[in-house]
Amino acid sequence: MEAEVGVRRRLQDAGQEQLLRFWPELSPVEREALVGELLLMEPRELRDHCRRALEAYNQESSSPQRLDQRMRPVPPEFLGRVSRSDPGELGRWEQEGLHQISQNKVAVLLLAGGQGTRLGVTYPKGMYNVGLPSKKTLYQIQAERILRVQKLADERYSTKCTVPWYIMTSEFTLSPTQKFFEDHDYFGLDRSNVIMFEQGMLPAVGFDGKAILERKDKVAMAPDGNGGLYRALSDNQILEDMEGRGISYVQVYCVDNILVKMADPVFVGFCVSRGADCGAKVVEKAYPAEPVGVVCQVDGIYQVVEYSEISPETAEKRNPDGSLTYNAGNICNHFFSLDFLKNVATTLEPCLGYHVAIKKVPYVDEEGNLVKPVRPNGIKMEKFVFDVFQFAKNFVAFEVLREEEFSPLKNADTADKDTPTTARRSLLWQHYRWARKAGTRFLDDNGCRVPENDSISESDDPPAVCEISPLVSYFGEGLEIYLKNKDISTPFILDENTKECEA
Ligand code: UD1
Repeated sequence: MEAEVGVRRRLQDAGQEQLLRFWPELSPVEREALVGELLLMEPRELRDHCRRALEAYNQESSSPQRLDQRMRPVPPEFLGRVSRSDPGELGRWEQEGLHQISQNKVAVLLLAGGQGTRLGVTYPKGMYNVGLPSKKTLYQIQAERILRVQKLADERYSTKCTVPWYIMTSEFTLSPTQKFFEDHDYFGLDRSNVIMFEQGMLPAVGFDGKAILERKDKVAMAPDGNGGLYRALSDNQILEDMEGRGISYVQVYCVDNILVKMADPVFVGFCVSRGADCGAKVVEKAYPAEPVGVVCQVDGIYQVVEYSEISPETAEKRNPDGSLTYNAGNICNHFFSLDFLKNVATTLEPCLGYHVAIKKVPYVDEEGNLVKPVRPNGIKMEKFVFDVFQFAKNFVAFEVLREEEFSPLKNADTADKDTPTTARRSLLWQHYRWARKAGTRFLDDNGCRVPENDSISESDDPPAVCEISPLVSYFGEGLEIYLKNKDISTPFILDENTKECEA
């Protein structure tokens, strides 16, 4: 009774009393659950959140923001490019990155709190197996790349280093992710170096400015966006953990890119040599309307402009050499110094604005029936991880090769792009190229040489199926001893075991 009165008063203050409308029907257990949830929401914060959501929604629907006139591309002096750098320069960056890794100064941080709605699976995306011959999941591939990059740094600098792996999850993804790692023995990593933490959640708000009930005893909540990272870092004392381990640099990345280079020594080395506090890895946009954000300046300040925020004319704009003017496609792979993250988390985070997403949010109607809406009915508010670029004192962008570094898994196979099939293909093409470069000849089922036909498009399967374990090679290095002048039948998997036989 006391709890009810207290909660009712709090909700009155927040203007959200409708959240208790099924109170008389709830069992004691349900009441307890609902009260527990509501007590976590400060009345003023809840009121402000609902008001902000409604205002943002109204503004968005009346005049979507266009930024065309205020945009400038990243100035060339702040943009590094793999394609325009000579091997000596790339080697120096790699050396610098491996050195930092060997000194235990580099951590990786995975953003894994998203719900993966487009892919349509009920479990976290990192657990997805895209159908590689090895059946490895995204998490296993990432874990093995960490093991390999640690080894590369150790071999170069005679050390025994660690790249800690921080994983930001949400209410939806924490326990399945924990269980998956337990079941797979942390894929060979020391479990004390895999640190999971949870991001915050925010209520979904209806178009009337009222928070939505998804059940009679439960408010509809959604993760607060990948920019919820900064608040989650302080709420969970993650920066203290990093500091305790002596970390100076953090690479933050998104879960779904099958080609992601964990703690990429070249990117880290580039950012460190430039004295950057904040950096973004980018790829050249594939075509003007590609749905990726563009890293650029708006009114002289760095930010990512989503494709919906620019007109087709601006997206099509070209430089005299024919390249797109706004070409720096964001791949959600960022570099931060720990000092920068500390400054954001302790001081600047409240200045980050919210982005509005209009979604279909299941709800209970006035009669208490569960409704799955066919049309969007709710406002979700999210912060974005890249919105901190504005605070950088020394921002750099680094353009890498798409075929080596970016192939995201966003959609189910019914779509024609960014699907399990395209992700699998990108990885197998990469490994086919590496093997060919190392001097392999592939044989087909009949023992005949597979022709080395360079005209096949990478939108088809590669001529031969070859998968190389990240435990054996991180970026194609060191393969000659196993593959040079070898005739290899496909499908072929080069892993720790085949390596023993082949060497
Ligand atoms: C993201 C980028 C976009 C870029 C694209 C490239 C953002 C906001 N947008 O878009 O500019 O072109 O990747 O692939 O970064 N996540 C959380 N918590 C959340 C929401 C998401 O951790 O509350 C994580 C997801 O699990 C994922 C990452 O953030 O790992 C990116 O989220 P996603 O929704 O896939 O972003 P995109 O819209 O694809």
